[in-house]
Amino acid sequence: MPDLGKGAKQGAVGRLVVVGIGLIGGSLALGLRAASGCREIIGVARRAQTGEQAVALGVVDRAVTDLAEILPELEAGDVIFVAVPTLTVEAVFAQLKGRLPGGVTVTDGASVKGSVVAAAKNVWGVVPEFLVPGHPIAGSEQSGVTAARDDLYIAHRIILTPLAETAVEHTQRIQRMWEAVGAEVLTMPVEEHDEVLAATSHLPHVIAFGLVDTLAHDAENENIFRYAAGGFRDFTRIASSDPVMWRDIMLANRDAILQSIDLYTSNLNSLRSAIASGDSEHLMGVFTRAKAARDHFTKMLAKKAYTETMEANEVTFIAHPGGAVNGELRVPGDKSMSHRSIMLGSLAEGITEVEGFLEGEDALATLQSFRDMGVVIEGPVNGRVTIHGVGLHGLQAPPGPLYVGNSGTSMRLLAGLLAGQAFDTVLTGDESLSKRPMNRVANPLREMGAVVETGEDGRPPLKIKGGNKLRAIDYTLPMASAQVKSCVLLAGLYAEGETSTTEPAPTRDHTERMLAGFGYEVQRDGPRASLSGGGKLTAGHIDVPADISSATFYMVAASIAPGSDVLLQHVGINPTRDGAINILREMGADITLENQREVGGEPVADIRVRYAPLKGIQVPEDQVPLAIDEFPAIFVAASCAEGETVLTGAEELRVKESDRIQAMADGLKILGIDAEPTPDGIVIQGKGGSESPVFGGGEVDSLGDHRIAMSFAVAALRAGADIRIQHCANVATSFPNFAELATGAGMNLEVR
Ligand code: S3P
Repeated sequence: MPDLGKGAKQGAVGRLVVVGIGLIGGSLALGLRAASGCREIIGVARRAQTGEQAVALGVVDRAVTDLAEILPELEAGDVIFVAVPTLTVEAVFAQLKGRLPGGVTVTDGASVKGSVVAAAKNVWGVVPEFLVPGHPIAGSEQSGVTAARDDLYIAHRIILTPLAETAVEHTQRIQRMWEAVGAEVLTMPVEEHDEVLAATSHLPHVIAFGLVDTLAHDAENENIFRYAAGGFRDFTRIASSDPVMWRDIMLANRDAILQSIDLYTSNLNSLRSAIASGDSEHLMGVFTRAKAARDHFTKMLAKKAYTETMEANEVTFIAHPGGAVNGELRVPGDKSMSHRSIMLGSLAEGITEVEGFLEGEDALATLQSFRDMGVVIEGPVNGRVTIHGVGLHGLQAPPGPLYVGNSGTSMRLLAGLLAGQAFDTVLTGDESLSKRPMNRVANPLREMGAVVETGEDGRPPLKIKGGNKLRAIDYTLPMASAQVKSCVLLAGLYAEGETSTTEPAPTRDHTERMLAGFGYEVQRDGPRASLSGGGKLTAGHIDVPADISSATFYMVAASIAPGSDVLLQHVGINPTRDGAINILREMGADITLENQREVGGEPVADIRVRYAPLKGIQVPEDQVPLAIDEFPAIFVAASCAEGETVLTGAEELRVKESDRIQAMADGLKILGIDAEPTPDGIVIQGKGGSESPVFGGGEVDSLGDHRIAMSFAVAALRAGADIRIQHCANVATSFPNFAELATGAGMNLEVR
């Protein structure tokens, strides 16, 4: 594809000639006129009356019925936009042949690109360099010049399918023209365009026309139309589209459309059988998958989970200085447990009900992956999820790569499970995840006999071959990592014999606890955990407590902001996760645990935090794995403490969603803190000791790392001016309602 440089939007083209002044052609004319994007607009209409109407409506400056008549006037820089029904394009090209002045660009708006290229070859023998096939993904069921609007293309996509023969200057001109009317331009090969459009546009039109026609033939049709409610109306709107245009599209894109129809027909037949046989499981499977996909349908087209959208959205936090946090807060469900509830619930026999599920992008990526592997999962609705377990051997091959977005936990834990399946899988992730190390899981899996391929340098994607017999291993982890431990144990479910892991320091043990909760025996002996393959998981009920990692932002907020007093409700305080409480307490934080209880095998408490002056400490190394995700927030606390805080033994922080040591050091320095990174930690000179501001204002980059973003938002409580935090969209991976809760509690956080 040519490199499309961005050009000036004003005066994007010379003259615009619109051949076919209907909705599509007329709207380009109106939009370009409104944007002063061209010198003159000439309309070409088959019927004189249409031309006169277009002039009267101010759509074109003048109109003719014969294209040949105006061709001699054209000059380099002018554009001819052919906006006629697909099968008429060739006749228009024939009129241009041998008469087109040099430097004039020809483009079109047809919904099928293969037939336009074929038409060009029929007329010119080759694809001429001035032809830029294009397709605006806009329009409506309305047609004709009276439906034309100057804003039709704003924020709509235009697909250009330039060929090797197309000259870059012509493609650039057409790109400028569409951008001038507010559209977003992308390029694609011709065949890909036609296949994608067959599935996403042409098939739905076939079905809508067909359904309305079926009902219209029915003897009772009056009644049917009279009582047809929203469903019929919504579903069949496009059956009011222009018949000629759609007949042409069907004929022009025959093969791709037939393929889509066949696929759809076979799915419809299975739905029919399910209805006939009362197969409610099948119906729930189709409907829940379809609902999830429809809710995020752009992702579905790429056969990806929904996570990707978040990165595409640019979100900036503007954290205004000052304030305190007060009140009773319930932060969202634990991320680690939410992932595991979906995984184990899917592999269990029976129906698992989950409460308190974190509806964040990471856990949703796991949920989507299991749906893609055929598991029926209802919800989430207000944190409730119902999982129809398929048993350890009931997963099915997904339709494409499993895209897990930003989520390292999804990728590493899934790798273990997938190594034991009969089918091949590919795991992919977003830009940040694609830089993270995966050999830490690929290596032990290979020792177990799995065939796992990574990308360059052991990075994603992970390609996992199915159908390999796994053997049990005794694995001593080279680093303290719950993800690696869990990956090996989950693979162990499928291995022959007893698989064990031995960790260098205690890490979160939710996998071990939850497996036991599902009735799977796990032996635990100090740093060693082991299980034997070949057992089964029994469905149950899971109550996911609030995530201590999310609660930490408010623990730090209350600790650093004078006047604060918060109660964080129902927080998981598993002893492998409570490092932040211990570290903050050692710094002098006023934290009390109230109403301690056990819920579903996990200790839970309400955590009360009141403002207290903090002091710098040497962070005990044994606390590091127990607070691994909390350090960005703890660094903010350290900046507000009196004296120096030294962290060592935390090199794992460098391979999280970002290099958290560097990212925090860079940001803290911008805000006026002396923060020196070391290979395995950081040294922070705290500026506490009084209640005056600790941080200056400034602009910091979270590097798309949720925890860095939220930490700097908390810092604003003790800042002297605004802190502007870039790339905050991924806060939704773990804490989708962070900003609302923060504002409700008394922080002054603006989201842009
Ligand atoms: C997690 C383990 C930790 C943690 C991550 C979640 C888990 O990673 O940082 O956010 O759910 O197992 P490592 O195990 O790689 O340290």
